Amino acid sequence: MDKTRRRTALVTGASGGFGRLICLELARKGFYVIGTIRDETKKGALLEAAKHLGVGERVETVPLDVTREDAGAIVAAVMKKIGTLDVLVNNAGYASGGFTEDIPMDEWIKQFETNVFGLIRVTKAVLPYMREAGRGTIINMSSISGRIAFPGLGPYAASKFAVEGFSEALRLEMQPYGVHVVLVEPGSYKTEIWAKGLAAFRADPDSPYGDKAERLLEMVRHTANTAGPPEEVAKIVVRIALEEKPRFRYPIGRGVKTALMLKRILPWRWIERAILKRMP
Ligand SMILES: NC(=O)c1ccc[n+]([C@@H]2O[C@H](COP(=O)([O-])OP(=O)(O)OC[C@H]3O[C@@H](n4cnc5c(N)ncnc54)[C@H](OP(=O)(O)O)[C@@H]3O)[C@@H](O)[C@H]2O)c1
Repeated sequence: MDKTRRRTALVTGASGGFGRLICLELARKGFYVIGTIRDETKKGALLEAAKHLGVGERVETVPLDVTREDAGAIVAAVMKKIGTLDVLVNNAGYASGGFTEDIPMDEWIKQFETNVFGLIRVTKAVLPYMREAGRGTIINMSSISGRIAFPGLGPYAASKFAVEGFSEALRLEMQPYGVHVVLVEPGSYKTEIWAKGLAAFRADPDSPYGDKAERLLEMVRHTANTAGPPEEVAKIVVRIALEEKPRFRYPIGRGVKTALMLKRILPWRWIERAILKRMP
């Protein structure tokens, strides 16, 4: 690799959480970073933090709501401007929860529009450039919920399972062109995702699932309070960005590797029993 060439990265959902930390960490490692933010009023936190770290000139923001039809065109315009992209981090996303019967179809669609179709829109816009350059790494933010689904998190788990399937196919499609596709699969980390998800959680007291949903919410609140530091995830993303030949999956977080190992070796019925026993 030409070490004098400016390396570039584009990170979606850079207003806070993992996205902002990933932008800062990439810039510290010398990348020129474009952080996309859907609400322009939130860009100050990233730009100020970058300035504070002395990497202000290496971070720029672009307004982007990944659910919009023109999201692909916006990313294509960015690509035209910068010419090449070394790393794409598809990070934008949110967690929708509740029991299946209680969740309106609109919400299912919104969850997929953001976590799945938004990610595909952005990816499609950068693929021609990475393919032609014969290099690039696409890092898709999945979750432990993309490997093991928990009750009360159907929309989120379904969307992350979809991200896993899409990434598996895309990795094979792009390998002959020198483009790597990678999944990061975090457990629970302290970001805004919890507060946003809890605010939208469907727990209708008249629902037959009302009590269960309330108790589940309590569990989620507890998980949110005891979740790990998000810097861990930013660090692993940057490590992947710098790797010549990254692996496909990077599970990370407390208990995540053990859970995946147990899923691999235990009969499925045992796993179900263990999950249901933990459920309220
Ligand atoms: N935190 C965890 O425990 C955890 C665990 C596993 C996986 N993840 C995944 O990690 C990724 C980042 O989440 P986070 O924990 O950092 O949560 P976060 O703090 O809520 O950040 C999510 C980011 O995505 C943006 N976003 C949401 N919908 C969008 C849309 N339609 N268009 C563009 N941007 C949008 C948010 O923008 P706004 O600020 O405008 O809302 C925000 O910048 C998500 O894909 C999430 O599923 C998180």
